[in-house]
Amino acid sequence: MKVAVFDTHEFDRAALAEANLGKHELIFLKASLDAQTAQLAKGCDVACCFANDRVDKGSLDVLKQLGVKLIALRSAGYNHVDIKCALDLKLKVVRVPEYSPHAVAEHAVGLLLTFNRKIHRAHNRVREMNFSLDGLVGFDLYKKTVGVVGSGKIGKVFAQIMKGFGCEVLVFDKYPDHDWAQKFDIHYSDLNNLFKQSDIISLHVPLNAETRHIIDGNAIESMKKNMVLINTGRGALIETNALTQALKTHRISGACLDVYEEEAGIFFNDFSDSGIDDDLLARLLTFPNVLITAHQAFLTQEALKNIADTTIDSISRFEANLDLSKVEVLI
Ligand code: NAI
Repeated sequence: MKVAVFDTHEFDRAALAEANLGKHELIFLKASLDAQTAQLAKGCDVACCFANDRVDKGSLDVLKQLGVKLIALRSAGYNHVDIKCALDLKLKVVRVPEYSPHAVAEHAVGLLLTFNRKIHRAHNRVREMNFSLDGLVGFDLYKKTVGVVGSGKIGKVFAQIMKGFGCEVLVFDKYPDHDWAQKFDIHYSDLNNLFKQSDIISLHVPLNAETRHIIDGNAIESMKKNMVLINTGRGALIETNALTQALKTHRISGACLDVYEEEAGIFFNDFSDSGIDDDLLARLLTFPNVLITAHQAFLTQEALKNIADTTIDSISRFEANLDLSKVEVLI
């Protein structure tokens, strides 16, 4: 099949080419998908999209007109896809439901350790021959209470790692898994109690109508002063204005963010020469107690290989008219 692979980068082309082994004709495109760039899929059977592509009605209409039959997402999350529109247009949508929950959970832990022990600041200091320790005081994670919002694949791995640090772990999920919780001495809680009790809160729910802005001004008001917020889920789980306000008033200790509400068009790109015109992100970047990575939590060799293998396999299965139920997105 001929595949237009949108929003590709050096880091994922090699894995995709290796998984493909010439089975399909992959057209690697730098452009991310939107209603204009969708034209680049002319002559293709498949549009292969990433986490920040706009798979909305505008793009889907064009893709359909061009004869595209399959949308193959290289992501687990599908909040950026208008699924109803795809169904109406009879376009199949597949995703990579699981590629490495460890990659994302371990990155969340990495952000927390870096933030808390100020390793990023210490590294910069030492490189300048400044060996002073002033301003680098952190806190023990041992015995702290960690709130995990979402106990799916990633939330579970994160919760278990935090148990390993000797933390108390509270979890909130719409569909609790009590057997798992009992096995790891982890406790389910309602969201309000989790907000109230936790020293650290990490978000691992998908973005949907119920979870959008799950962290807003009211939620932050109910949290412990000096708590640390971690978001490796999706940017819009947090109302960024409310977060900025909380940081300005020192209401919380800080935030570790791998995702940002308005990241599309910014993350995955290099603006080091031109700068950015997003004032909210620019403001976030001024806080010494905010640590930001650009949607990189998934970025391990293992995850890239699994994403590429699943994506190519789904395209092959689609071509051969085989069962896609394990990867198909249907609402
Ligand atoms: P999952 O589907 O295994 O787990 C999600 C959990 O959230 C489920 O247990 C579900 O019951 C729960 N949930 C869903 N809606 C809820 C609601 N309204 N209230 C409470 N709980 C709710 O998903 P997984 O693999 O753990 O991924 C979680 C999210 O992480 C993805 O949806 C994606 O947005 C994000 N992600 C971020 C990556 C990154 O690189 N930063 C990479 C991969 C995923």
